[in-house]
Amino acid sequence: DKGNRRHFMEKEIHEQPEVISHTLAHYVDFTASTSRPLDLPFDFARIDRLALSACGTAYLSGLVGKYWFERIARLPVDIDIASEFRYREMPISQNSAALFISQSGETADTLASLRYCRKAGVPIGAIVNVRESTIARESDVVLPTLAGPEIGVASTKAFTCQLSVLASLAVRAGVARGTISPDEEKALVRALSEAPRYANQVLKLEEQIEKVSRELSHYRHVLYLGRDTNFPLAMEGALKLKEISYIHAEGYAAGELKHGPIALIDENMPVIVIAPHDRIFEKTVSNMQEVAARGGKIILITDRKGAEQATVDTMETIVLPDVPEIITPIVYALPIQMLAYFTAVFMGTDVDQPRNLAKSVTVE
Ligand code: M6R
Repeated sequence: DKGNRRHFMEKEIHEQPEVISHTLAHYVDFTASTSRPLDLPFDFARIDRLALSACGTAYLSGLVGKYWFERIARLPVDIDIASEFRYREMPISQNSAALFISQSGETADTLASLRYCRKAGVPIGAIVNVRESTIARESDVVLPTLAGPEIGVASTKAFTCQLSVLASLAVRAGVARGTISPDEEKALVRALSEAPRYANQVLKLEEQIEKVSRELSHYRHVLYLGRDTNFPLAMEGALKLKEISYIHAEGYAAGELKHGPIALIDENMPVIVIAPHDRIFEKTVSNMQEVAARGGKIILITDRKGAEQATVDTMETIVLPDVPEIITPIVYALPIQMLAYFTAVFMGTDVDQPRNLAKSVTVE
């Protein structure tokens, strides 16, 4: 049931404040501002590596997770696309654990990577949305995303719930490994608990995002740029846009611009820059200047401070609320989903059932 929405995707985008809150509540205690102890088949304090594997959007959530685990818990993460993981014969340290991320819990390549790790004898956790799925059944611990059923082929609420689980786990790992103090844990959990409220505020930018999307629908190619955790988000933005609007899009780390993609820049290729004002914001501003100097049109997604300090002409600047660093990927996921959604609506594509795609890829 789509409620009063035109598409499931639209409905699912709007459910995010609520489902992010449900999911977080499973992993953190909002009142005490602490992460909840988990019954894991491994000890975060004792492992020296974590392997992550998934496909598509779930893989991109894992890529954000890598930044969090490494920064907050100083835990090195190896992350692979599941179709590579299963065949590349990676050596798996006995002192590690593996996490698989999947909305459906049925993705063939992700399941095959899980079985590879099972053979290697490492403890296995699954971040899944469908609890009665094969991946859930075959793992040692299920770490649920409480997104509720996701019908739209383009993953939206499952993604932000995966991010919510990964951020909570990284905080938990930080506590276990002694890399964050109790005060830092509290500050991080407090920041996480604000994500639903900020997500709600972003949904109110619908009108502006719809207007930008109308413009975007006139182009054939779009480039997304971001640094740090916004780099996986740039790839997620590009994936979302291509799968439902069929506009060719690519996501790049902003620092890679000079190493190739800059050759593509002209007035026919809008560049969407995902850049909250953070410690590397200035670097991204230089990238935007390089784009502008070549006639590229910039759509900047940033916060108030970023909008003030971006000394560059943009086609549009979407200003999000100032949010604590740890939740930027969760909050910034919404405008990129909304951009893809409205652009597809303007293109007149089948938003919930895009051509050639299946919701769950159960064959290789
Ligand atoms: O069910 P899963 O999370 O394992 O699915 C993985 C991908 O197939 C999925 O995220 C796909 O990339 C989405 N259609 C992206 O929106």
